[in-house]
Amino acid sequence: MTNNSKPLLLSGIQPSGNLMIANYIGAIRNWVDLQNQYNCYFMLADLHAITVTQEPQDLLKNCYDFIALYIACGINPDQNTIFVQSHVSGHAELAWLLNCYTQMGELNRMTQFKDKSQKHAKNINVGLYSYPVLMAADILLYNADLVPVGHDQKQHLELTRDIANRINNRHGELFTIPEPYIAKSGARIMSLQDPNSKMSKSDKNVNNYIGLLDDPKVIMKKFKKAVTDSGDTIRYEPETKPAISNLIEIRHCVTGESIADIEKNYEGKMYGHLKIDLAEAVIEFLQPVQERFNQLRQDNTELNIILKRGQEEANKRAETILNKMRQTIGFIPNIKNVCL
Ligand code: TYM
Repeated sequence: MTNNSKPLLLSGIQPSGNLMIANYIGAIRNWVDLQNQYNCYFMLADLHAITVTQEPQDLLKNCYDFIALYIACGINPDQNTIFVQSHVSGHAELAWLLNCYTQMGELNRMTQFKDKSQKHAKNINVGLYSYPVLMAADILLYNADLVPVGHDQKQHLELTRDIANRINNRHGELFTIPEPYIAKSGARIMSLQDPNSKMSKSDKNVNNYIGLLDDPKVIMKKFKKAVTDSGDTIRYEPETKPAISNLIEIRHCVTGESIADIEKNYEGKMYGHLKIDLAEAVIEFLQPVQERFNQLRQDNTELNIILKRGQEEANKRAETILNKMRQTIGFIPNIKNVCL
């Protein structure tokens, strides 16, 4: 199924909230583009999702929905390893080991922890704090070469590299130092109602984002309602025109038109034109995605077959790396493998 001579790519998404257009643009779109060049591991980060309170039934539904959407967006399940994080217990084990090589001071600097602990002030659990270490484990467990993510994950990637370098310096070359892949455009899509904060799939205000499963009418309404900037020229100037620049960037990422062409096509036109055309482009893009999603979600058999294969493949690779780490640390090797 996978081609081991290719460099390894790993990425993942937490099954929290509603998978939305910014997750597609910032992450999945790049996964789709890179899937032929890399040996890809696409993970559903369910262990990460429980760092905030989740209702079990909603979480389960989200898990299947997200996997179905990976495939509906263009990830080929025959060619890539699609798997669930909690199906590979090595993630939790390596996270513990890496915890012992990570300083509190490093985690104290993580901006996402600061943001999330403000948003979830009643549930600042230890998991939320050590979340970046689990993310480092996700990546290092497979010796990933490349990790495509949006801009908000950059700091976590830097920490992963620091931890890997620290362990390699102490114990010899154990881990590959992963490279982040943050695309030039679309790495930070902003909220439709507040262009100064990033679009988020867990936002309480659903008008802030376009869900990949939103109904066409809802999509049109959300774009029509999107805030705009003062003035009336349609130009890409993120500093002075953050709202319009965000809409232009979404259009550029969804249709592939260059930003210069978009600006040219909208010379002399009103903000409303851009919004309606953009809504139509997004609806058109999402139509086959939603169709494929609905087929896949009719019953879970096909998804379960894919996930079973993914679980086996991911465990195989993870176990090799974890064994090396256990041995390096000085643990007694797994006794079931010792000839007595
Ligand atoms: P998560 O679930 O928050 O987001 C999934 C992916 O979508 C990107 N993204 C965005 N890109 C552009 N604009 C936005 N407004 C936007 N919002 C989200 C994210 O950067 C991400 O790429 N910790 C990760 C999941 C994870 C992971 C991993 C990723 C767990 N382990 C190992 C890579 C490798 C997260 O919470 O992503």
